[in-house]
Amino acid sequence: MAAEKTFYLETFGCQMNAHDSEKVIGTLIEQGYRQVESEIEAGLILYNTCSIRDKAEQKVFHRLNDYKRLFKEGKRFAVLGCVAQQEGEKIFDRAPYVSLVSGSASYRKLPEMLARLESGEERITGLDDRQTEETFETEFTARQSPYRAYITIVEGCDKFCSYCVVPYTRGKERSRSSSSVLAEARRIVDQGYTEIQLLGQNVNSYRDPEGKCSFAELLATVGQVEGIRRVRFTTSHPRDFTRDIVEAIDQTPTLCDHVHLPVQSGSARILKAMAREYTPEWYLERIAWLKAARRPISLSTDIIVGFPGETAEDFIATMNLLAEVEYDGVFAFKYSPRPNTPALTMIETVPDEDKTQRLHVLLDRQREIQKINYSRQIGGVLEVMVEGLNPARGQIVGRSSQNKPVNFTWPHAIAPAPGSYLRVKITEAFPNSLAGEAV
Ligand code: 5AD
Ligand code: SF4
Repeated sequence: MAAEKTFYLETFGCQMNAHDSEKVIGTLIEQGYRQVESEIEAGLILYNTCSIRDKAEQKVFHRLNDYKRLFKEGKRFAVLGCVAQQEGEKIFDRAPYVSLVSGSASYRKLPEMLARLESGEERITGLDDRQTEETFETEFTARQSPYRAYITIVEGCDKFCSYCVVPYTRGKERSRSSSSVLAEARRIVDQGYTEIQLLGQNVNSYRDPEGKCSFAELLATVGQVEGIRRVRFTTSHPRDFTRDIVEAIDQTPTLCDHVHLPVQSGSARILKAMAREYTPEWYLERIAWLKAARRPISLSTDIIVGFPGETAEDFIATMNLLAEVEYDGVFAFKYSPRPNTPALTMIETVPDEDKTQRLHVLLDRQREIQKINYSRQIGGVLEVMVEGLNPARGQIVGRSSQNKPVNFTWPHAIAPAPGSYLRVKITEAFPNSLAGEAV
């Protein structure tokens, strides 16, 4: 009898990567592999990697270094995802014990690559540098969350912001057909999920290859699938953020009250250098549409501090934008130079200490804004979807439609199942979460 095939997979990076891993895991299981919980137990060790910033990129090499001794015991290593696509065959030089290197645009060839690996081949690559028009769709997705199901609707990116690796690591932008998206949404509901998150690096750049619907129409159609209670979508690009998206949210109660709209900077000059193709005024117009929606829509964003050429004045412009929008959440990062990107050739003018300082100033201010925003919810009753338990605090953990974490007490001995919906009276607010009691 052949030895059992086992694998261990660790994921780094964004939700796109998390969901790619669900599809890779499903593919491996379909190929006769069994998933195990640690490197030690596994015959095949896979890392699905991220290269968005330098620190993220280093993680995979640390991990490989920690476990390379296992190669002698016959274990095999695979590097998947953005670092794989970016570094390509250079990974074999840096970590010669790696046998397979594949970027996300080649995952549909995984079964074939796995067969070659099993037959003892050593340096297998799936590298697809902005060539493929195809998306990776599989019915074998091994969903890892009991309450939230992801669907990729757009892969890749054609925006080429000057700081960003994604156009080089995830290939050219390509959308799935609306009928395959809808078929997957229906399948997900049949499996018992009520929350769907539509994914794309620029999710709202979606263009139906069948020409049947716009992104806003797709949102509304998915939101109307019988049995769905919550639809989220991420990440939106301001450039493609059209007013009909807000209208779809207005008209479709299942579309969640939350939009993540990365601004990156509040300075027109820096936005230009970043090749974002919008001005602060243009961005704020979209925010005004969202603020005029029938339901209060929670807003969050991404910001980069210390981009080459960012002056104290540019940074103040970002701080002013923050004060004006009053986001419920901000992901802020220090600019990190990335291979292949146009910004790599720009002279870095902001020393690391200044980047760190700007980051702190920004996050401190944002914390104050969130304290006020979150405390506005005290006294209200919110519908919360249960995600799990916090045994240490004896509380149930869930999320509101606005995507705010809600920790709450529950009067019964048996905890509610993940994925169930409860009404929670909010009694306390913190800068990043709410607390209350089930009613
Ligand atoms: N340096 C710092 N932050 C970056 N991001 C993308 N590229 C870089 C970079 N080179 C941030 C952006 C993006 C988020 C996912 O990561 O804010 O929206
Ligand atoms: Fe990281 Fe971007 Fe790749 Fe996601 S797409 S894993 S954020 S580099």
